[in-house]
Amino acid sequence: MTASTSDIEKAAGLLRAGRLVAIPTETVYGLAANAEDPAAVARVFQAKGRPPSHPLIVHLGGADQLGDWVKDVPATARLLAERFWPGPLTMVLQRAPRVPLEATGGLETVAVRVPGHPVALALLSAFGGGVVAPSANRFGSVSPTTAEHVRAELGDAVDFVLDGGPCEVGVESTIIDVTGVTGGTPSVLRPGGVTREDLEEVLGRPLAVPSASPIRVPGQHPSHYAPRARVVLVEPGQVVAEAELAQEQGHRVGVLLPAAVAGAPVRAHAVVAVPGSMSAYARTLYGFLRELDQRGCDVIVASLPPEQGLGLAIANRLRRAAGPRSAD
Ligand code: TXA
Ligand code: MG
Repeated sequence: MTASTSDIEKAAGLLRAGRLVAIPTETVYGLAANAEDPAAVARVFQAKGRPPSHPLIVHLGGADQLGDWVKDVPATARLLAERFWPGPLTMVLQRAPRVPLEATGGLETVAVRVPGHPVALALLSAFGGGVVAPSANRFGSVSPTTAEHVRAELGDAVDFVLDGGPCEVGVESTIIDVTGVTGGTPSVLRPGGVTREDLEEVLGRPLAVPSASPIRVPGQHPSHYAPRARVVLVEPGQVVAEAELAQEQGHRVGVLLPAAVAGAPVRAHAVVAVPGSMSAYARTLYGFLRELDQRGCDVIVASLPPEQGLGLAIANRLRRAAGPRSAD
């Protein structure tokens, strides 16, 4: 079921009252709160179990509002906004005074985007302001791509869930640093729904390598985007053998079977066929990880797709899912 006009009115009222609303976006579901209400922002961190030093993304209803939320809008930012908003691109810029430090984890920069989802845009228009919205999952776990996933992740910690159907893109937005720390050429801090190739085409030049400045990006933490099961990455041609070995060793093995070996028989607990198209794979990746968890797998065997286009974001999330667990 998708949100009605009265659902949107209700959600806008809750945001005004400092409450939390889960919202659909084209990338993943977000946990939204009034960006200008520090107490509401604090509630977001609490509901997610996220350390308050980790900055949030401010979501706006239109690119015309950007100037209200950042100190100035460089020509590059204006160009990227025109080309990619509404859409899965987040820009990091110097914050304007109206952005509370609670939202930026104390940083003088702010991450901003205009989401490309009709329900999110209707809510932002009804609400009138900006909302902070991290992915609507518990800190470190897999991002939700349906309203059901949000309820499973957050339960009563969220006051209302706006259902906008399954997310179209399926992985988070691309985060690009436009603050000029890399000498005027932007750099990608997190690969996502807008590809590096598309950004470079619009910019007319290669992106810079991110500076080693100590920007806190929790998405960079190795155990992010992780299912409960341990994720093992091998070459596509090794997936079947690796899965069967782990299964013989007594594990309940889930397999993300690469398109390159589609149809291969696998003796494992659960097998999911990965789509050959990168956009279909991105759309289904988090749902697959969640499904394999639900089916009781304790190991997931997968391989990385070619790291071009959306494959770069998929590979990034799989690597992080396979990374060392902080709890280990
Ligand atoms: O697609 C998305 O971006 C989703 C949807 C809901 O919009 N949101 C999302 O938010 O992924 P979250 O909080 O899960 O990830 C936000 C990322 C974090 O890695 C954070 O560190 C980075 O944005 N970030 C936020 N503000 C930043 C800043 N000022 N400088 C550098 N990174 C920043
Ligand atoms: Mg997240």
